[in-house]
Amino acid sequence: MTRHFLRDDDLSQAEQLEILDLAVDLKKHRYSVTPLAGPQTVAVIFDKSSTRTRVSFAVGIADLGGSPLIISTANSQLGGKETPSDTARVLERMVSAIVWRTYAQSGLEEMALGTTVPVINALSDEFHPCQLLADLLTIREHRGTLAGLTVTFLGDGASNMSQSYLLAGAVAGMHVRIASPLEYAPDAAVVSDARALAEASGGSVSLYTDPAESVAGADVVVTDTWVSMGKEDEKADRIATFGAFRVDSDLMALAKDDALFLHCLPADRGYEVTADVIDGGQSVIWDEAENRLHAQKALMVWLLERA
Ligand code: CP
Ligand code: NVA
Repeated sequence: MTRHFLRDDDLSQAEQLEILDLAVDLKKHRYSVTPLAGPQTVAVIFDKSSTRTRVSFAVGIADLGGSPLIISTANSQLGGKETPSDTARVLERMVSAIVWRTYAQSGLEEMALGTTVPVINALSDEFHPCQLLADLLTIREHRGTLAGLTVTFLGDGASNMSQSYLLAGAVAGMHVRIASPLEYAPDAAVVSDARALAEASGGSVSLYTDPAESVAGADVVVTDTWVSMGKEDEKADRIATFGAFRVDSDLMALAKDDALFLHCLPADRGYEVTADVIDGGQSVIWDEAENRLHAQKALMVWLLERA
């Protein structure tokens, strides 16, 4: 049966580790495997803006011997004019995988249902699992391990990044802390799924409304924009609500002395993070951005050849 990557817990802990190990190899030997030789085409569809995801998939597909076909929904029949499943039935006749950045997770689920080629979530309103593979790779490069580390995500707890940290961190056996205003807490069903995963992996899941308490002793501190794509109309309210969750040097000082700082980018400097933190010695954001390439290549190799 075709495997897809729609949310972080589509991978078991062993599979997540296998993909991270493969990413390390591919980072060392960039052009060593060519499962897309032919070249085979991979469709990469965007309903929302992107820099990193667009470039890392286009470059990664080319590195693997394939040809990326970048599609903007505005110039295609997707987006109200044709259903995701009808689109998939057409694409699967011509491409080897479908990568899609969209709004509702349900669209990705519909796209994947019954499709014969792997479907990869390149960000939805609910999850950003490709980013988490890159984040986990980055954390492991700098700390040597994942299981047992404490990671705190601050900001919009209901966002794709927060919810992917809950699932991917729990799969990896990490202690995941989410700090957000109460009205921006993660979805209860995602928290419950993450708790079940953490119980099996030896990790844990905790929700906070006090930013200082949430970062105390943390190994990794993460934040993301307070205004995710699609939420632009709520910008003023969000900026008024999230101020206490800004990651500045005072907050970083409460985490471990050598705590890492991560941000998936793009950053609203001065809002969710101050310039001294994002540009400071604890920040690993450029490694994190580069690792999108290596992690996604590993994911594609795994889905195409090993799953
Ligand atoms: N982090 C990330 O997904 O960036 P882009 O929106 O630029 O793709
Ligand atoms: N949470 C952000 C991530 C951007 C890569 C958004 O959805 O806009």
